[in-house]
Amino acid sequence: MEKTSKIQEEKHLTGTLVLSVFTAVLGFFQYGYCLGVINAPQKVIEAHYRHVLGIAPLERSAVNFTDTEGATFSPDVPEQEGEDSISGSHAALTMYWSLSVSTFAVGGMISSFTVGWIGDKLGRVKAMLVINALSIIGNLLMGLAKYGPSHILVIIGRAITGLYCGLSSGLVPMYVGEVSPTALRGALGTLHQLAIVTGILISQVLGLDFLLGNDDMWPLLLSLSGAAALLQFFLLLLCPESPRYLYIKLSKVEEAKKCLKRLRGDCDLTKEIAEMEKEKQEIASEKRVSMGQLFISSRYRQPIIVALMVQISQQFSGINAIFYYSTNIFQRAGVAQPIYATIGVGVVNTVFTVISVFLVEKAGRRSLFLAGLIGMMASATAMTIGLALQRSFTWMSYVSMVAIFLFVIFFEIGPGPIPWFIVAELFSQGPRPAAIAIAGFCNWTCNFIVGMCFQYIAELCGPYVFVIFAALLLVFILFAHFKVPETKGKSFEEISAGFRRKRNSAIKGSKAATELEYLGGSAEA
Ligand code: GLC
Repeated sequence: MEKTSKIQEEKHLTGTLVLSVFTAVLGFFQYGYCLGVINAPQKVIEAHYRHVLGIAPLERSAVNFTDTEGATFSPDVPEQEGEDSISGSHAALTMYWSLSVSTFAVGGMISSFTVGWIGDKLGRVKAMLVINALSIIGNLLMGLAKYGPSHILVIIGRAITGLYCGLSSGLVPMYVGEVSPTALRGALGTLHQLAIVTGILISQVLGLDFLLGNDDMWPLLLSLSGAAALLQFFLLLLCPESPRYLYIKLSKVEEAKKCLKRLRGDCDLTKEIAEMEKEKQEIASEKRVSMGQLFISSRYRQPIIVALMVQISQQFSGINAIFYYSTNIFQRAGVAQPIYATIGVGVVNTVFTVISVFLVEKAGRRSLFLAGLIGMMASATAMTIGLALQRSFTWMSYVSMVAIFLFVIFFEIGPGPIPWFIVAELFSQGPRPAAIAIAGFCNWTCNFIVGMCFQYIAELCGPYVFVIFAALLLVFILFAHFKVPETKGKSFEEISAGFRRKRNSAIKGSKAATELEYLGGSAEA
């Protein structure tokens, strides 16, 4: 009885906690919006670029795999026709478009590196407040794109919003991880992903041509995430600073207690304060942890490798090939209304993220992550078979379409949400900011590589492009199986103790092996 009420107490959601988490994840909403917004209006914006750059419209586009009436045709464009239609200027168009998609990730890559520094310097809340300026500037540039060289303004605008999103993608999990009670950390952590997918879905719906995805409105479409930045700015003024930051980093004990009280309401705070105190003493006894030390010190090596690999798995699973280019991929799969299929993906994506919010505290992070990767690998294989055989059997296009949906569903079960919050769980307060910065940088770099290269690789590999992702997924499955620990329901201290135990037993194991070898050797001798 007492235990039940204890758990309920630990899961207690106060108004301030809800407001703080909601406000923080508005940063992730913007991330999702910027990610998804570029997908549906590709044709309209490219047409505008063509106009600005003085490139003649395509008769039949080998890049987009459609004819001028919008009807679909096979990806296997006859050699000669394909070569004829890709002139130098159309290659330039592909380049400007790929840059418009991917400079967003370049911005993210650059800024994610500074997350630890800015988060510690200004505090989590003030840092989130200040960086909103980047979002507003970036969105303004895109909103004004028609009044200047639009391709340049879009590319720069997306790079600057990328700077915002890179910082936000580190600061938000840091803050949410620190303000959440242990029992709710996973569920609240998946809200990052929920905010991202909601952003993606809204951008896809607004991208319909009768809403904002048309020649008149596309600059507004691209820049609307600025509205979320403004909302976040004002709401942040009401949010308490992270008690862990105040207590452990700044030693402002009383202020930390006040903030914790606002976040937890009338609960008993002794246990949590004792936990912070313990973490503080631990940190005082260890030296400051720099990014380099995370790799050099044997204490952090295992968790940082896990943290990086989960990010690499998330991005190189190929998910953003779908989110950046699904309209295009659906066309190739022979779908008549690709934009609606893209929105369908957004809906399925959102529904399954909601499901994972509930699953993650029940099934555990490790099993969901693994199950998701295995499902994605099977779906990528099915997608390839569907795309490859669609010329011989028309019904195969259904196979590829269903496979795309399954691919996204499995992603949201685990590989989507978990990497965003597991890094904050794998490290204690001392190394956490540096670890989040490196993990964020890694995530954005992989995101950039996929965004920039997918279109080229897809042209090169045709229907077999997803074989590459299937092979990579196999590697990630093996890694997750052997190396990713379960963190559900464990305190930060227990998680790092788990790594310590593993390390010690590995050291003991290797010592024993050396001794055995030695004994074996001397016996033989
Ligand atoms: C994850 C990824 C992001 C991707 C999204 C799709 O949040 O980090 O890159 O676009 O999932 O739902």
